[in-house]
Amino acid sequence: MARKTTRIQKQLRSKPQKTFSKDCDAFFNTQKVALTFDDVRLRTGYSSVMPAEVSLKTNFTRGVSLNTPVTSAAMDTVTEHRMAIAMAELGGIGVIHRSLSPAVQAQEVSLVKRFLNGRIDAPVTVFDDERVEGVLAEREQQQYPFHSFPVVSRRTGRLVGIVTKNDFDFCADRSLLIKEIMTARPVIGPSELEPSEAMKLMRERKHKILPLVDKDGKVTGMYVASDLQRILSGSSGHNTDRGSQLRVAAALGTREEDLERAKLLRQAHVDVIVIDTAHGDSKPVYDMLKKIKSLYPNQEVMVGNISEAASAKRLVDAGADGVKIGQGPGSICTTRIVAGIGRPQVSAVYECAKAIRGSGVPVCADGGIGNPGDVVVALGVGADSVMMGRILAGTDESPGETFTQQGRRFKRYRGMGSLAAMRESAASRDRYRQTGKPTVAEGIEAFVPYQGPVETIVQEYLGGLRNGMGYVGAANLNELHAKAVPFRISQAGLRESHPHDVMTMLEEPKTGKGRNQH
Ligand code: XMP
Repeated sequence: MARKTTRIQKQLRSKPQKTFSKDCDAFFNTQKVALTFDDVRLRTGYSSVMPAEVSLKTNFTRGVSLNTPVTSAAMDTVTEHRMAIAMAELGGIGVIHRSLSPAVQAQEVSLVKRFLNGRIDAPVTVFDDERVEGVLAEREQQQYPFHSFPVVSRRTGRLVGIVTKNDFDFCADRSLLIKEIMTARPVIGPSELEPSEAMKLMRERKHKILPLVDKDGKVTGMYVASDLQRILSGSSGHNTDRGSQLRVAAALGTREEDLERAKLLRQAHVDVIVIDTAHGDSKPVYDMLKKIKSLYPNQEVMVGNISEAASAKRLVDAGADGVKIGQGPGSICTTRIVAGIGRPQVSAVYECAKAIRGSGVPVCADGGIGNPGDVVVALGVGADSVMMGRILAGTDESPGETFTQQGRRFKRYRGMGSLAAMRESAASRDRYRQTGKPTVAEGIEAFVPYQGPVETIVQEYLGGLRNGMGYVGAANLNELHAKAVPFRISQAGLRESHPHDVMTMLEEPKTGKGRNQH
């Protein structure tokens, strides 16, 4: 009987292969136990690499790249649109959680996609005979992050003007009609106008907004000068799609309802769908992957979570465009304690990544990141990106309010498998395969110190990663895979690694001291 050629084998034959560190393989081959972050660090190597010059470019899935290898967890206390916008602006990507109705989750995706646009294909328009107060109320309700609208005649459907922030700011009487405050006959461009041409035209005419119209005068698009300038200069580092919109991912599960979710997410132009479950190597997950791929063959789909090499291979052969590793490493996870399964994270990442080398399918290391050095280790042993929950949960951009206890500010952070999360959301119950009233929790409810803007935290982590790459002598993440050599450290070595034997003058640094401080 002819043996089936796996996707990985086909890929290995057809593509030039990346190199992986032989010393790293040798290290793991000698280990008799599974290891995690506090067990290992990487060796320093000869380096001509300056940290400031390294490239952090990588891939989240086969077809979706990242400028920086950081992603935010699909958790209801971590990622909604504000976090996803911030993560994409920082070069990474956020995964909008699925404890939202399909419609609301799709709207969250839309808010990210509309946030920064080179060319806006379907700009929100207003009618000339609407009242200013009505438009402002609608803007508030829809949470549009912009104030400029092309104005369309209700009678003819043609563009008749534009209203911008200035028009609203200087409007003393909100009962006026839009046509009474708008700029009539604005500068316009043809539908097919290229971004660079649009920028030129806006500069010449000193206009910040440029509506595009077809030969009948109907609105077909719009450019915004400030966004365009940033994008064209290429200096933003933002993670954007081909249309210069920020990239975003969204999670779904394995229920029938999730097909409707997939449809709405696609309509909102989601970049990556993440089939987000506690057991990624399970039948319902393969069924859902198959359904999504047959309905939308070009949709990028990441699948998780897993922690075994065989699971990674099976998912790649089933058509996953990315795999997510982590069963129980998370700060709020109790899966390993409750269910007795789950490989410690560094070994899990290494084994899964090794199993699918050459397939072109990227690996995301999800959970357990406690300090910037852990990111270097996770990427060093084979991950292409890391996903963080706890580290980002205390920031301004995570959902939820801060509260004060004993003079310190905190934010709530909870596992999606905590009893509270599962009681509130069918999606959470689905993630942990619970039917009916949830009784077995695989996560806890917690709170974390308030940390301010997420940018500060992420930059600190990226700074650590750059420094780590400088020490290893890796100018990019491929080189890190090729050069990283882990070694084990003892408990005394771990203790020595952290500040010790001194009275600290400042509070615990943002990087924390590791997992034991949650
Ligand atoms: P960190 O360590 O960054 O981990 O806080 C975030 C990741 O933890 C996973 N997660 C859970 N795992 N029970 C679990 O076993 C839970 O209740 C739970 N909630 C989230 C998830 O993969 C997330 O990205």
